[in-house]
Amino acid sequence: MVDVEEFIDEATTEISEAIGDANAIIALSGGVDSSVAAALAYRAIGEHHPVYVDTGLMRKGETDQIRETFSFMESLEVVEAQDRFLDALAGVTDPEEKRHVIGEQFIREFEREAKETDAEYLVQGTIYPDRIESEGNIKSHHNVGGLPGVVDFDGIVEPVRDLYKDEVRAVARALDLESVISERMPFPGPGLAVRIIGEVTEEKLEVARDACHVVEEEVAEHEPWQAFAAVIGKATGVKGDNRVHGWVVSVRSVESRDGMTARAQNLPWETLQRIQSRITGQNDNVARVVYDVTHKPPATIEYE
Ligand code: XMP
Repeated sequence: MVDVEEFIDEATTEISEAIGDANAIIALSGGVDSSVAAALAYRAIGEHHPVYVDTGLMRKGETDQIRETFSFMESLEVVEAQDRFLDALAGVTDPEEKRHVIGEQFIREFEREAKETDAEYLVQGTIYPDRIESEGNIKSHHNVGGLPGVVDFDGIVEPVRDLYKDEVRAVARALDLESVISERMPFPGPGLAVRIIGEVTEEKLEVARDACHVVEEEVAEHEPWQAFAAVIGKATGVKGDNRVHGWVVSVRSVESRDGMTARAQNLPWETLQRIQSRITGQNDNVARVVYDVTHKPPATIEYE
């Protein structure tokens, strides 16, 4: 485990030396990693230009919640980019291409903000597992050092790049960030897009968003490291007297220390049945709900 106080001092110095008197965009997703990066940047260089991009791939009520939690940041810019992300994702079915499209769109959004604020640097909350998974070709994380050939910044500053999630949480607590942030359940940068197999459409997004909300509510008392629902395909079901071809929703709830490995949680049958009943009840297009019992490895936590 990193020495938290020493880390905070070193990271603060590193950020001020890297950025100096220049302007910086601080990429904020609302998660613990980017919040810690933003808080360190705040210590080092002041508020600068915090930017939150609403990709349209966020969870239910998430953008409003982020506006509220970060209302102390007077210059927080909320970029309404939902249409641009959905347009860019139209017809994209390959998981790596999806991540690439999302990563590139993020950079475009930040570049536009940078132009408007004369910012030359981008501060973001990439953590160590993001880098090893990208470098090891497991999957490319969009927030890893920017994407080659598409970045128009003088420098990208990643103050928590060598930390694991549990270390980031320890730093968040030491920085006195609210517990809704320091203990927040991890949510991937590409958002619900990696919880939808195949093309991202408005219909699938609505199913995934509503189902994730149900899962998070129902499993909270079991304190998973991460819990969510994913739209994984279509199957036959029966609604009333009719056969329907509806969505298959997979429920995942895992225990983990750092996300590198994970164990599927042994949830009570009653909880699983309540989740099933709420998800099929709230959305007519869902034909089936399944529970994912696979650990990581061999599965990953997310679906794409
Ligand atoms: P996987 O699916 O790789 O997930 O087992 C491990 C942890 O990382 C999160 N994750 C991501 N986070 N960008 C992120 O910021 C990504 O592209 C990404 N992919 C996965 C995942 O939610 C889990 O906590």
